[in-house]
Amino acid sequence: MDAISPPATHQNAHAKAEDYHALYRQSAEEPDAFWLKQAERLHWFVPPTRAGDWSFDPVDIKWYEDGTLNLCHNAVDRHVEERHGDQTAIIFEPDDPADEARHISYDELKREVVAMANALKALGVKKGDRVTLYMPMIPEGAYAMLACARIGAVHSVVFGGFSPEALAGRITDCGSRFVITADAGKRGSKTVPLKANVDAALAQDGVDVDAVLVVKHVGSDVDWTEGRDHWLHDKVSDAACPCEPMAAEDPLFILYTSGSTGKPKGVLHTTGGYGVWTATTFHYVFDYQPGEIYWCTADIGWVTGHSYIVYGPLMNRATSLMFEGVPSYPDASRFWAVVEKHKVNLFYTAPTAIRALMREGDAPVQKHDRSSLRVLGSVGEPINPEAWRWYYEVVGESRCAVVDTWWQTETGGIMITTLPNAHAMKPGSAGKPFFGIQPQLVDNDGGVLEGATEGNLCITASWPGQARTVYGDHERFIQTYFSTYKGKYFTGDGCRRDEDGYYWITGRVDDVINVSGHRMGTAEVESALVLHDKVCEAAVVGYPHDIKGQGIYCYVTLNAGEESSDDLCAELRAHVRKEIGPIATPDHLHFTPGLPKTRSGKIMRRILRKIAENDYGALGDTSTLADPSVVDELIETRQNR
Ligand code: WTA
Repeated sequence: MDAISPPATHQNAHAKAEDYHALYRQSAEEPDAFWLKQAERLHWFVPPTRAGDWSFDPVDIKWYEDGTLNLCHNAVDRHVEERHGDQTAIIFEPDDPADEARHISYDELKREVVAMANALKALGVKKGDRVTLYMPMIPEGAYAMLACARIGAVHSVVFGGFSPEALAGRITDCGSRFVITADAGKRGSKTVPLKANVDAALAQDGVDVDAVLVVKHVGSDVDWTEGRDHWLHDKVSDAACPCEPMAAEDPLFILYTSGSTGKPKGVLHTTGGYGVWTATTFHYVFDYQPGEIYWCTADIGWVTGHSYIVYGPLMNRATSLMFEGVPSYPDASRFWAVVEKHKVNLFYTAPTAIRALMREGDAPVQKHDRSSLRVLGSVGEPINPEAWRWYYEVVGESRCAVVDTWWQTETGGIMITTLPNAHAMKPGSAGKPFFGIQPQLVDNDGGVLEGATEGNLCITASWPGQARTVYGDHERFIQTYFSTYKGKYFTGDGCRRDEDGYYWITGRVDDVINVSGHRMGTAEVESALVLHDKVCEAAVVGYPHDIKGQGIYCYVTLNAGEESSDDLCAELRAHVRKEIGPIATPDHLHFTPGLPKTRSGKIMRRILRKIAENDYGALGDTSTLADPSVVDELIETRQNR
């Protein structure tokens, strides 16, 4: 595919092609000097004297260890102290376009964050305590994160689309004694009963917290547990609340994410390295210029919202737009209506949204003036070249730089991307490693692959934003990321590198699937299915889906005497939604009397994936199966659908 040269209309003030090469070389050759220099972007109470101190074997990762700082101070107070308090920090665009947008200045942000931090203190939250956030996409979500950071509490944000069951698991796993939520949230005119979900989570056996802090947002009726539940507005105060000096390696947040096996893992990020990483990547990748309006459409429940709605932009004193709603409400032109209304310059979204909107044609886009746009970002899953071109040509009028940013919850921030106007862009390729990133492609035996090639994507050297551990289970951290290829961080992604050194992510090579940019462990959906009393066994795989990228395909065997039916399909779908949340709703249920297994009882997922993809030519060797006839039966059912 031809490379597209940087549009000549805008020059990147922060990095040109030559600068990229020079900076990248320096980041590789003198990482300590490079990262100490980048650390100067932040305000430190005690500046660090050295940068990285890490090893991948044994696994021990530290950055800026002797420095102290506070990220709330960097994202909020610092700008007020530097006399930028009247600049807009957050623009809030509500779900219903008829409701008024809000502009929150850095002064106001500071007042709100202090007020909430005082409320948390009044409830007994102390430095190091975990606080679970279950919030709609409203500014109070950002206030809550920053209030935690301010007092040294560790936030664990749980996406508001997760079910009470999933929320309960995430509260207990990190021993959180506090929950911050809202009465309800709004999405596409629907009301999400967040407080009721928290009540349901806390009603489960063994789930218990000291306090629930509730933001009044929608005004809906809520049940109340006296002594436990508190309205935010009853607890706030404007008393002085200084930013707690945090050691660079003190935890900042936990964020649960799915892996190949078992329950979601509480990925832990610390303060100094994460701060430097998100501030630096935001600065270069979005080429942010003072006064510009930046909008990331992610939810704060995902890492993209943490790093690129809250911390990265605010530490750069950007104006960050928070949108409560969905791209399709009131109609498919909403994104572009918001771009026009708030004169958005930098826009960051997911390929699944681009594909869904592309299906609606060009008219909804062209209805609105998009001349403010300068950089268009993509994140969360591979973007197919067709969607890339539509984004570039129709949305961006072939005028804007497109950055396809590859990264993960565990990487804290962007790892592979082109830089606007510094690099030529190739539709479908994430591009080049960011400063300090040393990608390596290896074969299944760990053999290093050189030049233009395809393999499993590893990173061989630590970077400041790297996750430090899995909360409460360091062994699992080591096992998951550093044991497949000893001494290297394994991403779980497959990747191709072309002759120009551009990286093309091909998708997960493990049992993780990516559904509408949401990462999901097939094992989680399987566990949910087998909890149903009619289900004997389940195997879940991903299959190509036009809009979602991947759909969820479930093979299900029923208990003896149970019959498959449309009703049962509906029941199982509802069951998975209840256990995990709507994002995990199965797309396909395939009832089968048996699953293909090896003689030792291992399910042959490779075969199940191929059948789900309707690809029967490449089933490979089925002779090791305990009962090869199972495969014929599966194929027959698949073809008859
Ligand atoms: C996938 C989201 C291709 C990838 C920030 C990764 C991508 C997983 C891209 C992490 C991209 C993310 N191109 N694939 N630009 N960005 N991915 O933890 O498979 O929710 O491993 O972090 O998403 O998902 P996570």
